[in-house]
Amino acid sequence: MKVIVFGATGMVGQGVLRECLVDAGVESVLAVGRSPTGQRHAKLHEILHDDFADFSAIEPQLTGYDACFFCLGVSSVGMEAERYRHLTYDVTMAAATTLSRLNPDMVFTYVTGRSTDSTERGPQRWARVKGKTENDLLKLPFKAAYMFRPAGIQPLHGVRSKTAWVQAIYVVAAPLLSWLVRTAPKFMTTSEQLGRAMIHVARDGYPKPILESEDINRI
Ligand SMILES: NC(=O)c1ccc[n+]([C@@H]2O[C@H](COP(=O)([O-])OP(=O)(O)OC[C@H]3O[C@@H](n4cnc5c(N)ncnc54)[C@H](OP(=O)(O)O)[C@@H]3O)[C@@H](O)[C@H]2O)c1
Repeated sequence: MKVIVFGATGMVGQGVLRECLVDAGVESVLAVGRSPTGQRHAKLHEILHDDFADFSAIEPQLTGYDACFFCLGVSSVGMEAERYRHLTYDVTMAAATTLSRLNPDMVFTYVTGRSTDSTERGPQRWARVKGKTENDLLKLPFKAAYMFRPAGIQPLHGVRSKTAWVQAIYVVAAPLLSWLVRTAPKFMTTSEQLGRAMIHVARDGYPKPILESEDINRI
C-alpha cells in the first residue's frame, strides 16, 4: 500500500506513522504537514504545506495513493467555536474532497474520538462538529471510509505528546494505562494498536464504517 498521513507530527499521527514504517505491507508513506516530522526513513517522503484549506498547489503530489490516515485534529478546549469548526470540519473536508477526486480507489480513515455525535444535535459542540465531519466524509466517493473513535490512547515506542505536562502524565501513569488497555478496552488503546488497526482496515476493510475503542482493540 502507498499511504498518506496527515498530522504525523501529533501524538496520534506519530503512532500511525511508526506502524506504517515498520509494516512491510506499506510500500511508501507521504506525510503532509505544516511542520517536519523530524524522522528519516527510506519509505518516508514529506510535503510541507501551509494552507490546509486549499491543497490545489500540491495536487500532483497527492495522486496514486491507496490509503489516507487522517490524524490531524485539535482539542476544542479553550478554542473559539468557529476556529474549532474550521480546523475540524473545513480542513478535513478540504483534504478529503481533494483526495477522493484524485484517488477514487483510496480508503480514507479519520481519527475522531469516543462520544462523537452522529446526530449532529447533541449538547456537546465538539461532538456535533466531529459528527458532521464523519457524516460528510462517509458521503465522499472513496472506495471506502472508516471513522476511528478511540477514547484514551497510551503512547508507545517513543511516541510523545507535544505538551510537556501531558507527556509527564503519560510517563508517570504508564503502568496504570497499560493495565487499562488490558482491562478496559472500551476506554483505552495504544498508539501501536491504533496504527495497526488503521493499516488493517485500509487493507482488508471492516464490517462497519465507525470503529469504537473496543473495535480498534479487537482487530
Ligand atoms: N491524543 C488522544 O488521546 C486522542 C484520543 C482520542 C481522539 N484523539 C483525536 O485525534 C486527533 C489528533 O490528536 P493528537 O492527540 O494527535 O493531537 P496533537 O498531538 O495536538 O497533534 C495534532 C496534529 O494536527 C496538526 N495540526 C494542528 N493544527 C493544525 C493546523 N492549523 N494546520 C495544520 N496542521 C495542524 C498538528 O501539526 P503541528 O505539529 O504542526 O502542530 C499535529 O500534527 C484529534 O482529532 C483528537 O481529537 C486524540
